[in-house]
Amino acid sequence: MEAISHSVEETEQLGVELAKSLRSGDVVTLIGEIGAGKTTFVRGLALGLGVAAGSVASPSFVLVRQYTSGRMPLYHADLFRLENLPQAANVGLEECYEAGGVTLIEWANKVPGVLPEQFLEIRFEAMDPESRRLTLQPHGPLYQGRKFLA
Ligand SMILES: Nc1ncnc2c1ncn2[C@@H]1O[C@H](COP(=O)(O)OP(=O)(O)OP(=O)(O)O)[C@@H](O)[C@H]1O
Ligand SMILES: [Mg+2]
Repeated sequence: MEAISHSVEETEQLGVELAKSLRSGDVVTLIGEIGAGKTTFVRGLALGLGVAAGSVASPSFVLVRQYTSGRMPLYHADLFRLENLPQAANVGLEECYEAGGVTLIEWANKVPGVLPEQFLEIRFEAMDPESRRLTLQPHGPLYQGRKFLA
């Protein structure tokens, strides 16, 4: 499944759309280079879950941020800084998976072994300064056969 965004606003809107189809317990990985649009997408997704606009920041010193004001809890992790700290792989993601909300993980590819068996992967690619290609890949029966972006 693929979607093209031509602007920051369109990427946010794709996040809003995805939020509609997410269920409690879902885990979504966001993969792509720096500036590919992962956090932009998370902002829209948070909005789509009903989290107050403008409250999403990149997790930095905190590796996981949680937002509880939406229709279900949202956990937003960014593992970029964990690249050289494999021993820190346990940042509490297991707890997020089991907490009955949605977990979004930027740079999940930096830390092997941190993912659950099943998850939805979204790849972000910059096609030009303003355009991004998003590719959705379900991993596991929990995500196969579901419609994610209308
Ligand atoms: N269509 C687009 N969608 C998303 N961002 C875009 C788009 N076009 C341009 N941009 C710019 O690309 C950047 C995306 O930043 P963002 O923080 O979302 O990336 P990121 O993938 O989270 O990066 P990082 O790996 O550093 O966390 C912003 O500066 C934004 O203005
Ligand atoms: Mg980011």
